[in-house]
Amino acid sequence: WKITSEEIFSQGPIVPVLVVKDVEHAVPLAKALIAGGIRVLEVTLRTPAALDVIAKIAKEVPDALIGAGTVTNRAQLKQVEAAGAMFAISPGMTPDLLEAGNEGCIALIPGISSISELMKGLDHGYTHFKFFPAEASGGVKALKAIGGPFPDVAFCPTGGISPSNYLEYLALPNVRCAGGSWLVPDGALENGEWDKITELAKQAVAGAQ
Ligand code: 3PG
Repeated sequence: WKITSEEIFSQGPIVPVLVVKDVEHAVPLAKALIAGGIRVLEVTLRTPAALDVIAKIAKEVPDALIGAGTVTNRAQLKQVEAAGAMFAISPGMTPDLLEAGNEGCIALIPGISSISELMKGLDHGYTHFKFFPAEASGGVKALKAIGGPFPDVAFCPTGGISPSNYLEYLALPNVRCAGGSWLVPDGALENGEWDKITELAKQAVAGAQ
């Protein structure tokens, strides 16, 4: 059983980008987001705990579609796959990572911020990309322009996306979902603000309907 990039992109409008330092936060965080209507979770490899967090959610929260973010090379792709990630997202791409994604068992969503990178990804058979860093790379205008020559390529923009601009991205035909860290405000995990996270998730999902 393998979930495709298309299936990840079709689950809902928001992909929360999660930075989790303490493995004890993994399960309550995943449950809080699911209670808010979000099943696709991107746990970034930006903390020493990240692989354990992914493994714990994979094991204990069956409703979650748990994936890894900040996957930048082949070794990390193997690690997240072994931990139980169902997909991997990268801020960028290298030829080796693209090849590893094609050889591996889980969906890889590479990151692009230029046309030439997009074309390299297409050459390797990829059609679903993260657009990163979205705001700094031209934002909505850039994605709209890319949709001219490449109307069939699907994007999940992240980087600088917030409640104030995510709907502009989601209105584009080539944007399938938007990612960001705003659903988990600073300190929310440490303070156990699970209800607040659920509320932010609900608001984000409802706003996009
Ligand atoms: C990512 O990896 O997608 C970004 O770090 C998320 O960006 P944000 O913190 O601006 O939402």
